[in-house]
Amino acid sequence: MIKSFFKDKTDQADSLKVPEHIAIIMDGNGRWAKKRNMPRNLGHKAGGENVKTITKACDKIGVKYLTLYAFSTENWKRPEEEVSGLMDLLVFFLKNELNELHSNHVRIRTIGDISHLPVKTRKVLEDSIEVTKNNEGLNLVLALNYGSRNEITLAVKEISKKISEGELSVNDISEELIANHLDTSDMPDPDLMIRTSGELRLSNYMLWQLAYSEFYFTDVLWPDFKGPQLIEAIEDYQNRKRRFGKL
Ligand code: FPP
Repeated sequence: MIKSFFKDKTDQADSLKVPEHIAIIMDGNGRWAKKRNMPRNLGHKAGGENVKTITKACDKIGVKYLTLYAFSTENWKRPEEEVSGLMDLLVFFLKNELNELHSNHVRIRTIGDISHLPVKTRKVLEDSIEVTKNNEGLNLVLALNYGSRNEITLAVKEISKKISEGELSVNDISEELIANHLDTSDMPDPDLMIRTSGELRLSNYMLWQLAYSEFYFTDVLWPDFKGPQLIEAIEDYQNRKRRFGKL
C-alpha cells in the first residue's frame, strides 16, 4: 500500500513491516507560526490541517491505530485564548472531516478524561465516536485531556476499589490487569512513537504503553511533517531490530 501512495519511494518501502500502531506527539505549531510572524492559533490551525494529511496517509499505508497527542492535562495552563482556540479547532476538524472519515471506515476514539472538556467539544466528540463505532478501518485515537500519570493513577484507584470491595485480590494484580484498566485497554501498544520539532522527551505521553516502542525524533515542525516525512520515519523504524529485551 505504501507503494501505490508514495510512488517515488517504492523501492525502499516494505508494506509487511508497516507499524500497526503509531503514536505521535504533534509538537512545534507555535514555532511554525512564529517563523512566519503569525499568531500561535494559526500554527495550531496548520497543525489541524496536518492531522488530516497524516490521518489519510496512515490509512492508505495500512496503519491500524494512529494516536495523536492533541491536548495534554498540562495544556490547561496555557492562556485561556489558546485553550479555547484548540477546543474550537477540534470541533471544526470533526464537523468538517467526520463524513469523509466515516466513509473511509475510520473509527474515532479518545484516550484521556474528556468529561472535563467544554460541552460543545465533548458533544461533537461523543457524536463522532458513536457514528464511527462500528468502523473497521484506521482507529484515529485522539489523546485529549490526557496525561499518562493521571491515567495510571486512575487505574490504581479503580483496582484498589475492586480489591476493597472483594471483587479482586492483591494476587490478581499483574501487568495484564493494569493494562486492562488503562484507557488503551483494547488497543495494541504503539510500535512507533514520533515526536516532531526537536524536543527529546515524552511529556507524560503513554508512559506504560511505550515501554517497548521504537522512538523517532525529528526537527521538522508538526505542520511540516507530511507524507514523505512519515515515510522516512517508517523506513527508519523498519531498519530497527526490535528485541523486546531478548537477544
Ligand atoms: C504542540 O505545539 C501542539 C499542541 C499543544 C496541540 C496539538 C493540536 C493540534 C495539532 C491541532 C488540533 C488537533 C486536532 C486533532 C484537530 P506547541 O503549541 O507546543 O508548539 P511550540 O512548542 O512550537 O510552541
